[in-house]
Amino acid sequence: MVMREPAGGADHVVARSVHKRFAGVAALRAVDVVVRRATIHALVGENGAGKSTLGRLIAGVHAADGGVLEVDGRPVRYSSPREALVDGITILAQELTLVEQRSVIENVFLGVEERTGAVLRRREMRARYRQLSEEAGFTVDADAEVATLRLADKQKVEILRALARRARLIVMDEPTAALTTEEAQQLLAIMRDLRSRGTTIIFVSHFLEDVLAVADDITVLRDGALVRSGPATGETVDSLVTAMLGRPTDTAFPRKQPAAADAPVRLSVQGLRRAGSFSDISFEVRSGEILGIAGLVGAGRTEVARGIFGADRLDAGRIVVDGVARRIRRPRDAVRAGIAMLPESRKDQGLLMDTTVLGNVTLAHLGEVSNRSIIDRRRERRRALDVLTEVGVDTAKARVAVTTLSGGNQQKTLFAKWLLKRPAVLIADEPTRGVDVGSKRVIYDLLLSLAADGMSVVVISSELEEVLGLAHRVLVMREGRIVSEHVGSSLNQEAVLHAAFASTEGAAAS
Ligand SMILES: Nc1ncnc2c1ncn2[C@@H]1O[C@H](COP(=O)(O)OP(=O)(O)OP(=O)(O)O)[C@@H](O)[C@H]1O
Ligand SMILES: [Mg+2]
Repeated sequence: MVMREPAGGADHVVARSVHKRFAGVAALRAVDVVVRRATIHALVGENGAGKSTLGRLIAGVHAADGGVLEVDGRPVRYSSPREALVDGITILAQELTLVEQRSVIENVFLGVEERTGAVLRRREMRARYRQLSEEAGFTVDADAEVATLRLADKQKVEILRALARRARLIVMDEPTAALTTEEAQQLLAIMRDLRSRGTTIIFVSHFLEDVLAVADDITVLRDGALVRSGPATGETVDSLVTAMLGRPTDTAFPRKQPAAADAPVRLSVQGLRRAGSFSDISFEVRSGEILGIAGLVGAGRTEVARGIFGADRLDAGRIVVDGVARRIRRPRDAVRAGIAMLPESRKDQGLLMDTTVLGNVTLAHLGEVSNRSIIDRRRERRRALDVLTEVGVDTAKARVAVTTLSGGNQQKTLFAKWLLKRPAVLIADEPTRGVDVGSKRVIYDLLLSLAADGMSVVVISSELEEVLGLAHRVLVMREGRIVSEHVGSSLNQEAVLHAAFASTEGAAAS
């Protein structure tokens, strides 16, 4: 049975003049926020604005240095997430924390047993699981091993786990960042549903349309300080962007430089095949060209990228870089061949979290022999600082550990790491995931200028607008194959969508 709280209105969490510093960085400066019960309260702001810090503070991950935090009208001072959970507060972090090798149901009840004082027996656990699914309004196969689930389902497991722990306030830090459009819409529906059942949600997101679609209240942070906090009514994407950046910005796509049709081919792949993932993949990318790869989830886009980069084994096919056939069996071979890749998942971004930002950017690339002289190294460091500036990471951060960076700035650091070497080919899988609107434009400009400098760029993105806005030519993949090529007049949304859906049109429409 679910007790309905009196709907929306009463203060659930109140922050008064909350401060938080990290080794000299003011992550939050005197922030005042009121989160009303049974509402969706969005936190927006640029990368590094303090959104995750505020969410973590409320969920007991960090303690504030100053100010007052009140929950249900009582001042609290959590020194661990466990303490916040006693008050019904939990967080779904930017990185999920499930035990991959265990089943869904085990994960949902992991740690709950001790709290309730009794080990739940299997049958009780099943019954309780069904009850939770009803409460949540969705379910996930209880016996599936978590490792086999798609990210969207893992998040559902996290939500079920939160409900099993009787959470009444859930902080969701960029929960849709790695989801497809469809999955994201589904999660938004779940959030609305949870709200209608009395759960309060703090929603951190860079997708301002999503924020406007679900949020009751919006708090805008800039550089650790509160810009404003209040009802979502009346806010627009433009008003939020202006508040976040402190100035209006151009969110449109930059103008593409036309790619020369007779420029040399830098990447050519022929007949790539990986059993169960894709087959017959052949295409070329010329110097100066940005090739987009579009398609529905599961169409095989990321798999092809991983295959070219040597992250997954190919069963057949030829890869030629700058006219030389290359044997690529692992990422190291790809890097040597002049291919760089920005992977889609933050988890295997290839950053050493405890190493400094500068260290990561200048790190000898995957086993590259490092017998460079001191002068070379010094020059490299200087260039690294330039590249960091280019991608929009404050060089004051150059000597701190990557783990202390905000999510978006980690993404940009990875970008800088690959840019330092100016590869022949850059494969960017979801290059703007998790970065703020202002930085998105920076990354678009960067990709275009890299192409203009002669690089071949391959962009994979679930945001169709992004693929269309950036690419000179778009390939559409469906069920592991390339089904169409779009260039010139066929490079438009209708044509690409049509190709992506084609054979499944009936199913998609129903
Ligand atoms: N554990 C930490 N140690 C040191 N500095 C930190 C730590 N966590 C956050 N910071 C710093 O605090 C500031 C705010 O970071 P926060 O992660 O809250 O930003 P954010 O708004 O969530 O950004 P993003 O959109 O990129 O995720 C940043 O300058 C960040 O580098
Ligand atoms: Mg964050």
